[in-house]
Amino acid sequence: MKREGIIILGIESSCDETSAAICRDGKILSNVIASQDAHVKYGGVVPELASRAHMQTIVPVVDQAMKKAGIDLKDLDAIAFTQSPGLIGALLVGTSFAKSLALSLDIPLISIHHMQAHVLSNLIESPLPSFPFLCLTISGGHTQIVLCSDPLKMEILGETIDDAAGEAFDKSAKLLGLPYPGGPLIDQYASTGDPNRFHFPEPQIEGLNLSFSGVKTSIMYFLQKQVKEHPNFIHDHLNDLCASIQQTIINILMHKLKKASMETGIKNICIAGGVSANKGLRNALQEQAEKYNWKLHVPSFEYCTDNAAMIAITGYYKFLKGEASNLHASASARATWD
Ligand code: KG4
Ligand code: ZN
Repeated sequence: MKREGIIILGIESSCDETSAAICRDGKILSNVIASQDAHVKYGGVVPELASRAHMQTIVPVVDQAMKKAGIDLKDLDAIAFTQSPGLIGALLVGTSFAKSLALSLDIPLISIHHMQAHVLSNLIESPLPSFPFLCLTISGGHTQIVLCSDPLKMEILGETIDDAAGEAFDKSAKLLGLPYPGGPLIDQYASTGDPNRFHFPEPQIEGLNLSFSGVKTSIMYFLQKQVKEHPNFIHDHLNDLCASIQQTIINILMHKLKKASMETGIKNICIAGGVSANKGLRNALQEQAEKYNWKLHVPSFEYCTDNAAMIAITGYYKFLKGEASNLHASASARATWD
């Protein structure tokens, strides 16, 4: 007999994490994430290596997620999978797997937009944020300020016009000679550094869009000049450099988030994406929340970075609205936001 409740299997394979999760009536029962370390020595994600690793791990990861949740294949009501955006070869692995399983079990297939799922990672843990809320989604590939007025109704108010916030961290870290991904290392060194020691200009971009490429360039010129005069400059000032770079990135993000909150009058504020793990950012958000009376919602770290729980939860809300795809659904590297 099938277990009761709406049970969704979520599958995520858009970049370098292979993940599967089970959601039952909007509650996550399991969330298995296999991170790929094959990319570290190349200083960034190598698409071909990512696809191969997904192919090797997708079956055991799904199997583990089912076992952890105590769910059998016959219990599944639908399969939700990341259709876009992401690396095409990586997306194809998850898409093909999800399609085959849905076809063999004769259950609905639900295609998910990865960035919308990041926003809905805020609906995994109680207390849930009230609608409407603003979500600052900050990852290695994206930076967006999204107005979410219903689980399936979202609008991008602003986004980066060049690099993502995570890229700004990682590229700055590279300039400092730190390994990839450098974001967490900058966070670590910054904790004992002086954020006001060095100043990097903030870009002047109109509206709610953001930009990070100018910051990276000014850091690069600054470091080139200093190292020429003092070869040990980076080594001697690593903590202060990390703290100052981190502060600049945080200031850019907070400036636009405050602006979005003021313009919309929305004080329910959520965050998502790997960069939201940053301690300096979390402190800055807390400070602003107290100052402006924001109701802040910060997901647990396992739901901030790429994960299938957010795919399963988004699948659950789509299932409730009867939004299923057919077997012609195909992976797409770029995606429109509908
Ligand atoms: O969301 P995510 O796991 O993957 C995608 O890009 O989709 O985000 C990864 C990004 C990387 O750029 C990484 O350096 C950054 O998040 N990141 C951090 C921290 N933890 C992860 N950046 C700053 N501080 C952190 N603690
Ligand atoms: Zn992501």
